[in-house]
Amino acid sequence: MAAIDIKALGARAETMISALAPISSEPGRLIRLFLSPEHRRAADMTAQWMRDAGMQVSEDALGTLRGRVGEGRRLLIGSHLDSVIDAGNYDGPLGVIAGILAVEHFKGRPPVPIDVLAFGDEEGSRFPSTLSTSAAVAGVFEEETLGLSDRNGVTYGDALRKYGKNPADIPKAAYRRGEAAAYVELHIEQGPRLEAANEPLGIVTGIVGQSRWRVIVTGMAGHAGTVPMDLRRDALAGSAEMVLAAERIGRAHEGMVATVGIVDARPGAGNIIPGRVMFTVDLRCMDDATRKAAVAEFEDKARDIAKARKLEVTFEHFHDVSATVCDAGLQDTLAAAIGDLGHRAIRMPSGAGHDGQMMAKLCPAAMMFVRCRDGISHNPAEYASPDDMGTAIAALIRFIGRFRT
Ligand code: GLV
Ligand code: MN
Ligand code: MN
Repeated sequence: MAAIDIKALGARAETMISALAPISSEPGRLIRLFLSPEHRRAADMTAQWMRDAGMQVSEDALGTLRGRVGEGRRLLIGSHLDSVIDAGNYDGPLGVIAGILAVEHFKGRPPVPIDVLAFGDEEGSRFPSTLSTSAAVAGVFEEETLGLSDRNGVTYGDALRKYGKNPADIPKAAYRRGEAAAYVELHIEQGPRLEAANEPLGIVTGIVGQSRWRVIVTGMAGHAGTVPMDLRRDALAGSAEMVLAAERIGRAHEGMVATVGIVDARPGAGNIIPGRVMFTVDLRCMDDATRKAAVAEFEDKARDIAKARKLEVTFEHFHDVSATVCDAGLQDTLAAAIGDLGHRAIRMPSGAGHDGQMMAKLCPAAMMFVRCRDGISHNPAEYASPDDMGTAIAALIRFIGRFRT
């Protein structure tokens, strides 16, 4: 194997991250949504890098890019090109770029067949779906996803057709049984633990389970000046109590987090009592039973709040994914690869969702984390240093050298 030049790998990674960064639907902030023109441009740039590294490139029915080298049972390496709204530059692209630079290191002839995958729907920023592209690759895509609408009323199915794809081809995106030996993903940590441990790399032991749902609260819209306080059925004031209940539940359980990220109050005028509110809850935990019990606890509490305030409340669940345990053998091989570079592999669970969750339904899956500054992510301030990225890609190269299909 050629000597691994960590500085050069880090510099290449940084250049590639910077090339993808401006591909956004808005100047000045990063928004790269699934099946958008920006997704197309990012995929085209990435496909060219894959070809330059010696890979055969194809694209499946959901726009997932597949850069292939070698024949037979293979190692899959991947991450995503879509972003959250007002994103940082590293969440997703780094894992794709790492796979490409690792293949390039082996001059397009790695010791094991490899597919590098660039997924498009990891964040769930456009449709109320998430991980749908990796679900298709893993053979567990859910047909109902095609009917989901984005904020502009465009359905997932129509967006796919506009992207030049045929939904009938989705089953062909799945790997055949036995074809995939393992999936490995490199990703920024998105939290502060590696920085606190003063180490650049971590190994993910498992990925939290998630529930996401909409809460719809209905009261009565009315005149802000004439309806006395005790006669109001204010859907927003009731929602506010429910939001705080979600926060209390998240705080009450070790390792659980609960977030309300969207609140939409209607009709949305300063002089009208809100008659209808929709808000989302995202609740995560490593233990599935505890997560489900917490969802039920929230819904009971929300019903109590609604009853006391003469409101109606309903729940629409749109995302439910179980906690994933990363493969123990792959974790050990990653730890050995990190050890080869003289680093200590810090083991930690992931509170963020990842395509690895779906890929674990197909084959053994594992993830390596890269330290990011101040633990900041889903924020334009997100940053991983070129040295840390280079070290991570070097560890991925060592991993490939140790991996047996
Ligand atoms: C994806 O980044 C998620 O965990 O929400
Ligand atoms: Mn991500
Ligand atoms: Mn993310």
